[in-house]
Amino acid sequence: MIHPDCEVIDSTFGAWCEVGRGSRVLHSTFEDYAYCDRLSDIANTTVGKFANIAAMTRIGPTDHPYTRASLHHFLYRSASYWEDAEDDAAFFAHRKSRRTVIGPDTWLGHGAIIKPDVTVGAGAIVASGAVVTKDVAPYMIVAGVPATPLRTRFTANVAERLQALAWWDWSHDRLRQALPDFRALPVEAFLEKYEAYSAAN
Ligand SMILES: CC(C)(COP(=O)(O)OP(=O)(O)OC[C@H]1O[C@@H](n2cnc3c(N)ncnc32)[C@H](O)[C@@H]1OP(=O)(O)O)[C@@H](O)C(=O)NCCC(=O)NCCS
Repeated sequence: MIHPDCEVIDSTFGAWCEVGRGSRVLHSTFEDYAYCDRLSDIANTTVGKFANIAAMTRIGPTDHPYTRASLHHFLYRSASYWEDAEDDAAFFAHRKSRRTVIGPDTWLGHGAIIKPDVTVGAGAIVASGAVVTKDVAPYMIVAGVPATPLRTRFTANVAERLQALAWWDWSHDRLRQALPDFRALPVEAFLEKYEAYSAAN
């Protein structure tokens, strides 16, 4: 579902995705069940399955050239300024190549900013207002400017087992069947039940 007033360019969406009111999504992919809330600005990003992106986040903010005599975008948006000048295609291609990757079942808090080229691992949490400048390990909680690890959500063993289980690849029907267990079981008990189920099937 794409809410009103969004700008969506060269982007694709899987099933059960949602883009909040007034958001901008450029050159990006939303995998199944990924969503962002209001006024998010997302560019050159792969948003993994079940990613939860709060309002007013910025993912993949692009850089101006800062080693030239001017920072101004007349350097690359040149056709907007002179009839005989062309935009700088190589500069735009380089921008698009700097992909940000948001892993499955992540949660990006209100107003978080994630730099280009950064990967946020599966199950990680980015605190509200954080500026993420480096990769975030799976199931890590990061906060602050620049973002640093606060703590892990689970032990390394549980984090590895969740990634191996990869429940985010289950079918919609299987998720529905497991919904009561997602709600009720502690994570270790959930893993034990569904690892056994996976081994038997
Ligand atoms: C990251 C988060 C999940 C941690 O929650 P929590 O475990 O309850 O955290 P606590 O309040 O116990 O704080 C733990 C520590 O992290 C710090 N902290 C918490 N949130 C922070 C933030 N956004 N930025 C910087 N530091 C933060 C606290 O100051 C505390 O530090 P201390 O141990 O030195 O005292 C939560 O603070 C957060 O940012 N949630 C996002 C909420 C949001 O944006 N919702 C939008 C709708 S989805």
